[in-house]
Formats: sequence, C-alpha cells, structure tokens
Amino acid sequence: MTSVKKASNQMWGGRFASGPDAVMEAINASISFDKRLYAQDIRGSLAHAAMLAQTDIITAEDRDKITHGLNTILSEIEAGTFEFSAQLEDIHMNVEARLAELIGPAAGRLHTARSRNDQVALDFRLWVKETLLDLDAALTRLIEVFLDQAQRHAATVMPGFTHLQTAQPVTFGHHMMAYVEMFGRDRSRMRDAVQRLDECPLGAAALAGTGFPIDRHQTAEALGFREPTRNSIDTVSDRDFALEFLSAAAVCGTHLSRLAEEIVIWSTPQFGFARLSDSFSTGSSIMPQKRNPDAAELIRAKTGRINGAMIALLTVMKGLPLAYSKDMQEDKEAVFDAADAIGLMVAAMTGMIANMTVSKPAMRKAAGAGFSTATDLADWLVREAGLPFREAHHITGRAVALAEERGVRLERLSPDDFKAINPAITEAVYSVLSVANSAKSRTSFGGTAPAEVRRQVRFWRKRLKSG
Ligand code: ARG
Repeated sequence: MTSVKKASNQMWGGRFASGPDAVMEAINASISFDKRLYAQDIRGSLAHAAMLAQTDIITAEDRDKITHGLNTILSEIEAGTFEFSAQLEDIHMNVEARLAELIGPAAGRLHTARSRNDQVALDFRLWVKETLLDLDAALTRLIEVFLDQAQRHAATVMPGFTHLQTAQPVTFGHHMMAYVEMFGRDRSRMRDAVQRLDECPLGAAALAGTGFPIDRHQTAEALGFREPTRNSIDTVSDRDFALEFLSAAAVCGTHLSRLAEEIVIWSTPQFGFARLSDSFSTGSSIMPQKRNPDAAELIRAKTGRINGAMIALLTVMKGLPLAYSKDMQEDKEAVFDAADAIGLMVAAMTGMIANMTVSKPAMRKAAGAGFSTATDLADWLVREAGLPFREAHHITGRAVALAEERGVRLERLSPDDFKAINPAITEAVYSVLSVANSAKSRTSFGGTAPAEVRRQVRFWRKRLKSG
C-alpha cells in the first residue's frame, strides 16, 4: 500500500508537522458513516452556542454568526451540496471546518467548554433516542394489525402446537394475541431504554467537566433531555444506551423471526393455513406455481445482523478503561445497521400481517387431527364422572388408541365404543370432542376461548389509546 503524507490537520495542526498517512486516515475517519448524525450534531451545537452566550462565555454577536452558519450548513447538507471530507475525520470536524469557512474566526469559539467526546456522546444519544421513539410508534402500528386479525379471527379454530406437534385446538385470534404480548413487551423495552438514556451528555467535555461557567441544565432542556448526566467520566465512556437499543432490538428481532418462521410454515401448500397478499409474495422464475414468502425469510435472516451488532458492540466495550477511547467510534455502524434492519423488519411484518388471509377450513381440519381434543375428554371424565385426572388420562389414552387403530377421529367412536372403554362415558361427551367447543370451553383468564380473546383485544385497544 502506498503512503501519502497529507497537510497537517487544521483542527489540531498546531502540534503536528505533517498530516496523517493515507492508511491512518482510512482507519481513523468515520465521516463515511457518522455523517448520519449531522442533524443531531448541528442541533447540539446550536444549543451549546446559545448557552455559551447566555452565560457570557461568548458574545451574542458571535452566537448569531455561529447560529446563522450552522443553519446554512444544515441546509447545505440537506440539499446535498455539502462536501464531506475524510481528511476532516468525522461529522464534528466537517461541520466546524465549514463553519470557519462561512463565518471566519467566530467559528473557533463554538468548541469552548466542549470536546468531541461529549459532542459525539450527545449526537449519538439523540440519534438513538429518536430511533427508539420511531420504533415505539412502528411497534404500535404492528400491534394494531394483530388486533385487527385477532378480532376478525377470535373464533377461528386452528391447531395449537407444542414441539410442533398438534396439542390442543386454539383460536387464531389467540395466536395473534400472543404476538401482541410479545411486541407489547418490546415496545415497553424501547420506552424503558428512552427513560434511562434521557440525560444530556453535553458539558462533560473531554472527561473532567470544564472550568467555564456553563449551564448544563439549560442545554439539557433545550435538547429535550430530562436532565444532564451526573458524572463527566461516565458520560464520555458510556455506551449503555446503544447496547440497550441493540439488546431491545435483538429481542424484538427474535420475536419477528419466530413469527416469520410460522408464516413460512403456514404458507406452505402442506399447511395451507395462510396466504400472503400478492404485494408480499414473490414468484419463482422457473416454477410458476410458487408463491414464496421472501419477506418473512428475510426478516428471519436479518435477525442475525442485529444479534451480530449487539455482540460486536459488547465486545468493543468490554475491555475499555475509563474514559473515552477511540474504539468507541466503532459503536455507530453496528447501531445504524441494526436500526435499519429492525425498522425494515417491523414495517415488512406490519404489511404482511395486515393483508394476510387465513384458510378457516384448512385450520379447522388440522385442528381436529392428531386427537387434539383428547385433553377435553380427560377433563370431561374428571368433571362429569368425578374421576381423578390421572385415571381419566389413562382411559382417554385407550380411546385414542382405539381411534388410531380404526384410523378415525375421537368423535367418530360410537357411544358403545366409549361405554366399552368406560361405562361412565355418556353421549354427552360428544359436545366436548368438537374442536370449536374445545376452544370455546377454555375461558380461563388469558385462555383461548373466543370471548376471552375478544376481551384481550378490548384491553389492548384501550391500552394503546392511553398511549
Ligand atoms: N469520531 C469520534 C467518535 O466517533 C468522535 C470523538 C473523537 N474524540 C477523540 N478524542 N478523538 O468517537
């Protein structure tokens, strides 16, 4: 690799005779990815400049120049006319250098009582906070489409599985509501993370605070934080907010991935439970009969990126002495990539679930297979014949064996068959052997009965309404 000496850096050039080697510049520069923080960086600088003037650290005149310059830069970046330079390393120095071009020496006053260490901590926190709030809103929309499906299918019977073996009949609405609970927890994890990160890093400076009479409460308030952070060393070395975002995203990704897997299974011709809309299916270039659930598969796969990002950042942080180390610059790409992935995953899942149709006949048929109402028979024997559950379980086992031998469902056994198995079984037993009645009977709180599903839907609609 060739080495090229560059002109000395304009931000710290005072101490350096020559600029960095090209390879040094390549490993050091973060502008290619941290330019994503431009809006947060400028917002932070505007608040900082306002506070510096308020506390008489800079003049109102310089503040006005700085403010005007920063707003110009914001529009340049948004218009796509701003020239980012790798030589200027990161977003902070790119903005500051342009500010100097625009307003001259007053630009040099902006960095008073501040360091890039508290500056980057601020920018990144603001970015993560906004991302968490966006995710909260996106998850709310996702929950709403589940509630619509649950309401529509409160009484649609499907097989419930354990070990992916038919276990007991459940309602599809109940199954949808399981995801409402999961994504509801994800939503509360996002909110919880926002509560904890809601402290403003600005003013921690390099690591020790500053001797200038700054007002950290003012900047915290101006930037929408609850309060300033309380320890300047912790402030510049803390990336818990990024780790919490990644772990909340990883859990949420896991939920999305499990559902994606179910959608893949449900949309096979073998199951035939669900059909994705044309807008969320893809065809095959060679097999015209196929409708592939690509979005579900990609949701399942993208979970890996998020998990990877979380492990990457945990590993970056785990051996770092206090306070800031340049290692921490590696925090951003992981978070950006995970944020892009989880945002897209939630949006795609929302689209898929909103327009997914389910086949009631296929679900009902499968619900009755595999002697799924065997537990209902055992429960009936306990309830109606007063048998201990273990004995009822044994008797039911014999009924299942007989039905299996004949290749029929439980409810196809005759009254005499049942009598022969146990004389306590009367014709009244048939009422519990149908899948619909089985589901309807499970009225315990949080159970699968349609009435209970509808109640839980009402609960969640109210919860969403209250914010
Ligand atoms: N680009 C740097 C980062 O993302 C900004 C902070 C640099 N601080 C320093 N002391 N070199 O972490």
